[in-house]
Amino acid sequence: MTAEPRPQETLANLSTEDRRFEPPADLAANANLTAEAYARAEADPEAFWAEQAGRLDWAQPWDRVLDWDNPPFAKWFVGGRINAAYNCVDRHVEAGRGDKVALHFVGEPLGDTRDITYAQLKDDVSRAANALTELGVTAGDRVAIYMPMIPEAVVTMLACARIGAPHTVVFGGFSSDALASRLEDCQAKVVVTADGGYRRGAASALKPAVDEAREKTAANGHTVEKVLVVRRTGQDVAWDDAVDVWWHEAVDAASSEHACEFFDAEHPLYVMYTSGTTGKPKGILHTTGGYLTGAAYTHWAIFDLKPETDVYWCTADIGWVTGHSYIVYGPLANGVTQVLYEGTPDSPERGRWWDIIEQYKVTIFYTAPTAIRSFMKQGREIPDKRDMGSLRILGSVGEPINPEAYIWYRHVIGGDRTPVVDTWWQTETGSIMISPLPGVTAGKPGSAMTPIPGVGADVVDDEGHPVPNGSGGLLVLTRPWPSMLRTIWGDDDRFVDTYWSRFKEQGYYFAGDGAKKDADGDLWVLGRVDDVMNVSGHRLSTTEIESALVSHPKVAEAAVVGAKDEDTGQAVCAFVILREEAGDGGSDIVAELRQHVRKEIGPIATPRQIMVVPELPKTRSGKIMRRLLRDVAENREVGDVTTLADASVMNLISSGLSAGK
Ligand code: WTA
Repeated sequence: MTAEPRPQETLANLSTEDRRFEPPADLAANANLTAEAYARAEADPEAFWAEQAGRLDWAQPWDRVLDWDNPPFAKWFVGGRINAAYNCVDRHVEAGRGDKVALHFVGEPLGDTRDITYAQLKDDVSRAANALTELGVTAGDRVAIYMPMIPEAVVTMLACARIGAPHTVVFGGFSSDALASRLEDCQAKVVVTADGGYRRGAASALKPAVDEAREKTAANGHTVEKVLVVRRTGQDVAWDDAVDVWWHEAVDAASSEHACEFFDAEHPLYVMYTSGTTGKPKGILHTTGGYLTGAAYTHWAIFDLKPETDVYWCTADIGWVTGHSYIVYGPLANGVTQVLYEGTPDSPERGRWWDIIEQYKVTIFYTAPTAIRSFMKQGREIPDKRDMGSLRILGSVGEPINPEAYIWYRHVIGGDRTPVVDTWWQTETGSIMISPLPGVTAGKPGSAMTPIPGVGADVVDDEGHPVPNGSGGLLVLTRPWPSMLRTIWGDDDRFVDTYWSRFKEQGYYFAGDGAKKDADGDLWVLGRVDDVMNVSGHRLSTTEIESALVSHPKVAEAAVVGAKDEDTGQAVCAFVILREEAGDGGSDIVAELRQHVRKEIGPIATPRQIMVVPELPKTRSGKIMRRLLRDVAENREVGDVTTLADASVMNLISSGLSAGK
């Protein structure tokens, strides 16, 4: 692998981008964190992190902040005992804030809303904890969650945390195959799901995928013992009395009294699967004390959270890490009131999000650049019809935000009052690592700016030396942090190899992203430098999609690349060689293969383009040269072909494609 950051739109703007947005004076004057925090944290990071851990309630304090005796295996807040659910719910009730709304739930069907107070949430979480215990779940057992964005999903995550059963939330858009492989990898004992959820105005089913996944895992020798099902849409579901249990029977009948147990700070909290550079998704393991510290601290600092007055809304799905840290654990640990929205931005019509902001007087809003770009396309008339004067801070996450989208977001959505915080982080980092601070930083459109107080980050060359200002290289984190992943579930070697072997000597964490330092030393994250794509802010592995394609009987070989896309950041482009006996594959071959990928992985992985080619460009050692395929997919002149085993292959591909057009 070479240090070759993929050029993105931000790169082109780097040399000319000179707009700066100073924090509003009143925000700066009352900011949670001020500029002094950077130096204080730098002088003694462990003391700084201990101070942040003090935001939480511990049943027993720690004896040691960080045990880094056996890197890269970290232990934070050693000896401390804590319960994440207690911190997210009970302590707010005990402090007299039980009547405060925790969740303004907004279902997709108009008028389907529910406000849930912290006291109600405590009862619900306790009931669910009792019900899960009744189903045989004990501390350490894994519980999979495959649900729509409804309050029961949040309740289930917290109920698992409460009884020490690590959850693994699988995005509801994933297929039964993807669900099955995750259930098997973490040996989930129970699955919590719903009959379905509402998407784009219709009820879409979830339970059938669980039934299928359960069959598949059974064929491979793993038994899911129970499936707990929320009735959300009322659609018909197949039922197996030996396994399936209705939520409204088991949970509603359970007691709302539940004495919570406190666990070791390093007790596993959850496993979140994410795409890596091989076909097999990685189960990223997060533990309790450090993770919750990171989530609570960053949510408070980066959104300048004032829990008494703010109304917060993050549009992520709980099936991704953003939903874990910035819907469930960070905001609830901080005791804020937040919106939880089930559906899509444009259902029943395009102004839905802005209506919700207007109605609930949302003050802090956190979303992804891909959504912002799609709103830009629809035009400002739609948001302009709503009063969004309540907004004071806007956040962006998931992919580089191009300066144009940043400016539009700030201007049209934020009325030019609101700082935009472009937050860089990953499933692995657990919480935000690089971001402006809204009361401190003069933001630059397109730049994530600097590591937040407590975090060490740098851009280095291939040898691990920091690059000078004005140059690009690889993004690294230079020291451990509390919310760091602890390992890959069941695969310590892969953990060490993926993140810590590249800069072993320096002890740096290798993030897999390319970045650039501008003349002021501020950071611009440019995108992945490995075989991971970022489509609409979702991580997808090229290899995983290639494996899906070659599992189709007509396909002999496949190569997948992420090509630049105006709407989704990157789009999946596939090149396939058909098996000889498949002939030309038939007239519907492209549609057939796209459908196959949807079924194997899920709709988000569907290739935008599939090109049937006679050959693939390979090096002499047989490695596919994706760089050249990206040139084709992005309609560029094909680059240097001298390392190809057969230099004529690219002509074959190009002429074949133009002939086929
Ligand atoms: C990308 C999502 C540029 C990056 C929280 C990273 C970003 C991957 C940004 C992690 C940002 C995330 N600017 N790129 N502000 N935020 N990324 O694990 O490539 O789903 O490595 O976590 O998204 O994606 P993940």
